[in-house]
Amino acid sequence: MTAGWAEWPLRRRSPSTAPTTDNRSEARRPPAGPRNPGAGGAPSPPAPSELEESPVAPAAPTTAVGTRTVVSHLSRLRSPKGQADPLPHYRDLRELGPVLPTPWGGHLVTRHALVDSVLRSRKWRTTDSAWKERQDSDRWNGFAQQELSRTLQGLNSPHHTRHRRSIGNVFDRATLAGLHAVVAGTVDGLLDTLQDRVAEEGDADFGSLVGDQLPIEVIGSWLDLPRADYPKLLWLTHEHVVCQELLPTATALAGADRAAEGLRDYFTEVIRDRRAHPRDDVISGWLRTWDAMEEDREQADAAVFYLLMFLFVASVETTATLMPTMVHLLDRHRDQWRAVVADPDLAPAAVEEVLRYDPPIHMAGRVAARDTELGGVLIPKDAMVHLMIGSANHDPDHHRDPATFDIHRTGERISLHLAFGGGAHFCVGAALARQEATLLLRGLAERFPGLHVTAPPQYAQRVAFRRLTGMRVSTG
Ligand code: HEM
Repeated sequence: MTAGWAEWPLRRRSPSTAPTTDNRSEARRPPAGPRNPGAGGAPSPPAPSELEESPVAPAAPTTAVGTRTVVSHLSRLRSPKGQADPLPHYRDLRELGPVLPTPWGGHLVTRHALVDSVLRSRKWRTTDSAWKERQDSDRWNGFAQQELSRTLQGLNSPHHTRHRRSIGNVFDRATLAGLHAVVAGTVDGLLDTLQDRVAEEGDADFGSLVGDQLPIEVIGSWLDLPRADYPKLLWLTHEHVVCQELLPTATALAGADRAAEGLRDYFTEVIRDRRAHPRDDVISGWLRTWDAMEEDREQADAAVFYLLMFLFVASVETTATLMPTMVHLLDRHRDQWRAVVADPDLAPAAVEEVLRYDPPIHMAGRVAARDTELGGVLIPKDAMVHLMIGSANHDPDHHRDPATFDIHRTGERISLHLAFGGGAHFCVGAALARQEATLLLRGLAERFPGLHVTAPPQYAQRVAFRRLTGMRVSTG
């Protein structure tokens, strides 16, 4: 048994320390945890006024660019206009420099080469439980954050290696082949529903009818979870993810803590059920693996719980955003939509370009294991870097003519975008997400050549995890 793991009981920890103020008072308070805000592994920046009111001097002098300039860009990035089109803000930030200071002592990393190198280097670590304990801040010590630090995303080696290896290459060719019929059947059913709804109402909300449903139906079926539970699980997932935003509000953190409790209760019960009634399924298989690795059954259950809970959450929120983004971008580039309609074999290339152009995750976070130089800037031990995946994917040093959406890109390895991260924490479900998006796009192109957006998307006010809401479409 590893020392770190022994400290991770499946008991509920003390209640969240995140304040639970109502929304009115929340609007006036600074974001929780000003010392070291969001990982950018998934957090929501504060309102512009909060950003301007609560700057804290960075831990060490770093670059010639002032933190006020960076904050002003972040404020604009977070505005509805910035969320609808973040690219000009990314361009401005890249032009300011590759590594930019924030008021809380963290740094934005804007260029592809640096983001990629941080993701792949052992000099940088994820925000694990030891790091969070050192922060002395509500931002990092609520229940949702504590739970996250026990998942793959919050573990560093050697614990991360052990847990990641325990599930192997979960979405290998054979598994994907087995899931093909499930994904294709789900796509068919969802497109039937979309067609019916459009026939009744003239248009329909693509995100809630299709985007949200496809990933949960697929992962739910793979994990053999009851369909009746999907709406509740979807809600818990949406609430939970905001704890990873950049500078989440105290209210958002409190909601995430409650969602983490809900996810703990739900998946603990699933594990209890599989213990009592083992099946020939994924979860029972993971329990057998961990029973062989771990003498203490409670610890084996805990390990499987965190693998299961995080894999579920990670699979739903991200893929749900990819689907409407894909439809939106192809609608804005009708010639390319028509090309996919004429040749549905273009679907994989189109999906790849959507992932590059507007990935579901725009920021990931890492902390320095020791004092480190990055892009000519000193990053002190424990300080955070916010890896701007959305910006890196538009770095002209890496992608030709990056602001152009082009599903026909040739002569460059488009799949070397950073939408799925890189290095040890590279996305576990990348192949599944690609399969779901490709089959959906083929289905849309074959069944609804006249598909078009009738009301442009609204965006949740987030900087790290994109979320489109209210994008209505018509099928003809
Ligand atoms: C378009 C859809 C998806 C996108 C854009 C995406 C993106 C990412 C990114 C950027 C990371 C790395 C985060 C970091 O380094 O801090 C990640 C990790 C992860 N993803 Fe995905 N993901 C997607 C779909 C999925 C799916 C479908 C699953 C599971 C079925 C999944 C499971 C995971 C897991 C478990 C990790 C943590 C891996 C680790 O830390 O070792 N993801 N994902």
